[in-house]
Amino acid sequence: MTVEIIFIVGAGQMGSGIAQTAIQAGYQVILYDLEEGILEKARAGIAKRLNRLVEKGKLGGEEKEKSLARLAGSLDLNDARDADLVIEAVIEDEAIKGEIFKKLDGICKGEAVLASNTSSISITQLAANTKRPEQVIGMHFFNPVPVMKLLEITRGLNTSEETLKVAQEVGQSLGKVTIVSKDSPGFIVNRLLDPMLNEAIYLLDEGVASKEDIDSGMVYGCNHPMGPLALADLIGLDVLLAVMEVLYREYGDPKYRPCPLLRRMVRAGKLGKKTGEGFYKYD
Ligand code: 3HC
Repeated sequence: MTVEIIFIVGAGQMGSGIAQTAIQAGYQVILYDLEEGILEKARAGIAKRLNRLVEKGKLGGEEKEKSLARLAGSLDLNDARDADLVIEAVIEDEAIKGEIFKKLDGICKGEAVLASNTSSISITQLAANTKRPEQVIGMHFFNPVPVMKLLEITRGLNTSEETLKVAQEVGQSLGKVTIVSKDSPGFIVNRLLDPMLNEAIYLLDEGVASKEDIDSGMVYGCNHPMGPLALADLIGLDVLLAVMEVLYREYGDPKYRPCPLLRRMVRAGKLGKKTGEGFYKYD
């Protein structure tokens, strides 16, 4: 199947990053969210980032205009009817995602592939909300999407070879390196990464070291581009907590228990960069 139109559900930082990458790669993109204001913010952010690429000489002015012309906004899920591929990128909530998959299954054409950008929720579970489980797959992008080279693809129990091929081809056309995981909690990357971030929060909560020293430890000792607490802020502390909850619940292993400080930060609404404050403050 050739993918031409991509419908993206959710215009937050992941959805808008995926949209930017897809319009730059030549796809027609329809970006859906619940409120006009969210769509406007996403469009403005994409335009700003493309302008920056033009200023740096990495993108031609005409190509920028052509890319932006390939982006449409939508407040109506029914606009997914002509899409070849849908990528869902809403909040990490199984019930909300499940409801969206159910609705999309009724709206989308028979051959359309339904993908989720979930970082932790079972693809097999999401697929069970549809009558096309063989056409449901995980396409997990990394933040910031236009910069990060990886696309982690997850096969649900029923995902077909054909659907896997579509996801791999789209990923490669977006300039991503693709890796494939079975539908196992945390898949590959979050199973490795998030327990490390959670452990950094334990170090802070226990008063073992300052946040700056914890971050410097990994930046200068392990060559990470940013420290674990700064990275947790970038990812979003609510997202990190949701992943840790899934790992803890699904494996039933105490090594995945979310740090109490992480819970407190989320309860206080300090979700990281997106709310202006997490472990650090942001303008
Ligand atoms: N959108 C688009 N481009 C961005 C960006 C954004 N939000 N943030 C930074 N960039 C671009 C900059 O424009 C710059 O581009 P250039 O090289 O063409 O000039 C480039 O990225 C480098 O940016 P900066 O010079 O401003 O800053 P840094 O060199 O410090 O890089 C970073 C910033 C790319 C965020 C880097 O610190 C990094 O790679 N951090 C680690 C990110 C990471 O690990 N992400 C994965 C998170 S896990 C995840 O997403 C999974 C989820 O399920 C939890």
